[in-house]
Amino acid sequence: MSYYKIENLEQYFKHYNKSVREPRKFWGKIAEENFTWYQQWDKVVDFNMADAEIKWFTEAKVNMAKNCIDRHLNKRGEKTAIIFEPNDPTEKALHISYNELHQRVCKMANVLREQGIEKGDRVCIYLPMIPELAVSMLACARIGAIHSVVFAGFSSSAVATRILDSDCKMVITSDGGYRGNKTIELKSIIDEALEKCPSVSSVLVVKRTNTEIDMKSGRDIWLQPLLDEASDNSVAEIMDSEDPLFILYTSGSTGKPKGMVHTTAGYMVYSAYTFKNVFNYEENDIFWCTADIGWITGHSYILYGPLLNGATTVIFEGVPSYPDFSRFWEIIEKHKVSQFYTAPTAIRALAKENLEYVQKHHLKTLKVIGSVGEPINEEAWHWYNDNVGTKKCPIVDTWWQTETGGIMISPLAFITPTKPTYATLPLPGIQPVLMNDKGVEIEKNQEVGSLCIKFPWPGIARTIWGNHQRYKDTYFSAYPGNYFTGDGALRDEVGYYRITGRVDDVVIVSGHNLGTAPIEDAINEHPAVAESAIIGFPHDVKGNALYGYVILKETGELRNKENLFKEINQHISDHVGPIAKLDKIQFVSGLPKTRSGKIMRRILRKIAEGDFSNFGDTSTLLNPEIIEEIIAGKN
Ligand code: WTA
Repeated sequence: MSYYKIENLEQYFKHYNKSVREPRKFWGKIAEENFTWYQQWDKVVDFNMADAEIKWFTEAKVNMAKNCIDRHLNKRGEKTAIIFEPNDPTEKALHISYNELHQRVCKMANVLREQGIEKGDRVCIYLPMIPELAVSMLACARIGAIHSVVFAGFSSSAVATRILDSDCKMVITSDGGYRGNKTIELKSIIDEALEKCPSVSSVLVVKRTNTEIDMKSGRDIWLQPLLDEASDNSVAEIMDSEDPLFILYTSGSTGKPKGMVHTTAGYMVYSAYTFKNVFNYEENDIFWCTADIGWITGHSYILYGPLLNGATTVIFEGVPSYPDFSRFWEIIEKHKVSQFYTAPTAIRALAKENLEYVQKHHLKTLKVIGSVGEPINEEAWHWYNDNVGTKKCPIVDTWWQTETGGIMISPLAFITPTKPTYATLPLPGIQPVLMNDKGVEIEKNQEVGSLCIKFPWPGIARTIWGNHQRYKDTYFSAYPGNYFTGDGALRDEVGYYRITGRVDDVVIVSGHNLGTAPIEDAINEHPAVAESAIIGFPHDVKGNALYGYVILKETGELRNKENLFKEINQHISDHVGPIAKLDKIQFVSGLPKTRSGKIMRRILRKIAEGDFSNFGDTSTLLNPEIIEEIIAGKN
């Protein structure tokens, strides 16, 4: 019996039970049957949660790039691996076959080797969403270099911090990048960053925008001429299962960003397995994840998960609003996308626009639609379901993290019955537990607790680059023996999980645990409201009271604010309960958000408390200017 693909709900429970009772047999069989290995493992898993030491497929030898590409060449050489859809819809899309991808990656691998990059070296990749980004990552994987992709929207100081932290030897960048009607000068950002980074000895530059740039002699080299000269024959490096594949930075609540280290074999098995099952991927499907490859979602579900399954994956360079708000829907129609995976923040933004943008496009090729990155509120869920999925496509609300490598709790498309705002059931191999403040497991339904995972899974990050102690302290010390996610969750009567938001977002009002998500849902359902964020602030009697930051729709702007406040509170009363009513409300035009769309609540909390000093690291904010405006409007 094969465990790679779950066919129905009954089988899900069977596989799930097997994965808990006999995790070694379960993952061992999946690993053996679906990947190419140079050498088999000793032990499927070897771990010690107390020391945060986790190893999967010990002593096995493998290469990620070979599994993503070479393995498919016989059967799928001419099949399209990557569809590249440029920012400008009048520029021609590219279809890159597995054969061509193989050629491109081998050439790039040879260029990297010629430039002195060896197994274990760190390479920083700072590129827009163009095929060279995928090719560079795969070339690193082929030669055993560790890629550290930095989202090409980060500032020079944010890039410098990341380059320094992992001591990168090389940077791969481009002259510029297109995003909507803007051109971003990536190379000059790198030039500024590198003033502080002596470890970088070479910079490879892709030509994309023909922007005039400075080329520092002895350091900067145009990539294309090197590729033209390079051979397309390249021997893949034989890697150990636990050799790092990549580093990806994620911001912590305090301190500098954490360089999460993912290793080769476990990440490979887990990203492939979750891709196949969550999205119900079948051979001729066209998969499109709208994330940037600079985030974990892009690593696992634009690049690795799809290619490991021999899929066709779409890389989109642009933004949902350019040339207009129909861009996403137009791409789905143009490339006959089968699975569409995006974030609630994008869904909400698009839902605010005229429905005609969606309706004028044929979305009938869609089979599955997904959501990731934050809790999806009920209103957005229904809009997505009604207008994009036309009530025919299951919504997979996928909960996971940079640290987990792949999807952890999610419906499996066509198998798990969905329920709005619930991420539903854990994937096989994932054993969630909810803990109360005293570290005791919560058995009761509907009670919010800290979400922990009690057994390792193959995709878990193994350490924080250069700081194993911080890894241990952050994830393994709060609830000994468990991985602590930092999220709160509750479980309903059938065992479905609802993620209620970061645990630091859970506000205790008069002794009641309140997740921010359900309250925000209630507020957002008011017809005048576009979006909201609530946070707790100290209150003499209640311990904490709620402060709401609310963005109004145009129609709301014209309304009497006093009355609106009352109506919004009535909505909360009706949907969540009177306990969750807001003490204060502030109408704002925007919320401080990270580039991946997450609201930075710690800033809102400080403003609510009247503390306008030291907002900590705001380098990941998309719209730092909003802070001043919110402070000015505070009542
Ligand atoms: C949040 C993104 C609710 C959560 C893959 C988590 C979610 C953090 C969901 C990780 C979801 C992600 N429902 N919350 N479906 N998906 N989150 O590292 O708080 O960028 O801890 O990884 O996003 O964000 P990260």
